[in-house]
Amino acid sequence: MSIFRHHKKIETHATLLLVLSFLVVTIGGIVQIVPLFYLENTIEEVEGVRPYSPLEIAGREIYLREGCYNCHSQMIRPMRDEVERYGHYSLAAESMYDHPFQWGSKRTGPDLARLGGRYSDDWHVQHMIDPQSVVPESIMPSYGFMMNRTLGTSDAEHVRDIMRVYRVLGHPYDDEMMDNAVSDFFAQADLDGDPGVVDRYPGAQQRNFDGQPQVTEMDAIIAYMQMLGTLVDFETFVPAASR
Ligand code: HEC
Repeated sequence: MSIFRHHKKIETHATLLLVLSFLVVTIGGIVQIVPLFYLENTIEEVEGVRPYSPLEIAGREIYLREGCYNCHSQMIRPMRDEVERYGHYSLAAESMYDHPFQWGSKRTGPDLARLGGRYSDDWHVQHMIDPQSVVPESIMPSYGFMMNRTLGTSDAEHVRDIMRVYRVLGHPYDDEMMDNAVSDFFAQADLDGDPGVVDRYPGAQQRNFDGQPQVTEMDAIIAYMQMLGTLVDFETFVPAASR
């Protein structure tokens, strides 16, 4: 019992215990933190990940405002049951432009990280207006009012302001994106709109999402939902560790 000989001394000596605990925590901290300073980047860069388009930002803002994160997570963990249910596990890079991130901590409803393309726009409109009409046992509230909330120039300008802030945070919005922010906002919700928005935001989906002539909150939230988890092509993606 030679190793434990002094244990009693430590346990009965508050100052000694404190000093030694501090030492242990310090070493643990150094081991964990110091290597981060020598890494160029803690988020692996992944092809396809781009900052949000203006309409997608508007949709994301609505998602935040309505507190969808209280019931939905946006992070698929690398565990078999999750991957089989939701698709490829989430990559850090996929939420690198999320301020704040939407990983969530509660799943009253399903994870939405790979929602994009799973349902049609019509399904989303119907589901948002009356969730129980498509999923009878659903306890999700109705968000039908979004159909009536038209978005105008001042909303698009507000999104441009958000983009300015994002730029300060390091999101790569270039001058062309900033100059076109307001027009791109409307163009994305219109099949016949300026296709430049898709050049600026590769993979952005451009169409009338809610079927109404005016651009509404419903267009924005569906544009956001339909792009979730679609930017990375997992047919070709190889994790850095196995390259
Ligand atoms: C009170 C909890 C709650 C809130 C708040 C909530 N949801 Fe849901 N949501 C659910 C539940 C439960 C389901 C599963 C049943 C269903 O499909 O309606 C669901 C399902 C969904 C689905 C279908 C996902 C799939 O893979 O089948 C989408 C999309 C969705 N919610 C979007 C949203 C959005 C967007 C918001 C915010 C505007 C939101 N939800 C707010 C509970 C919630």
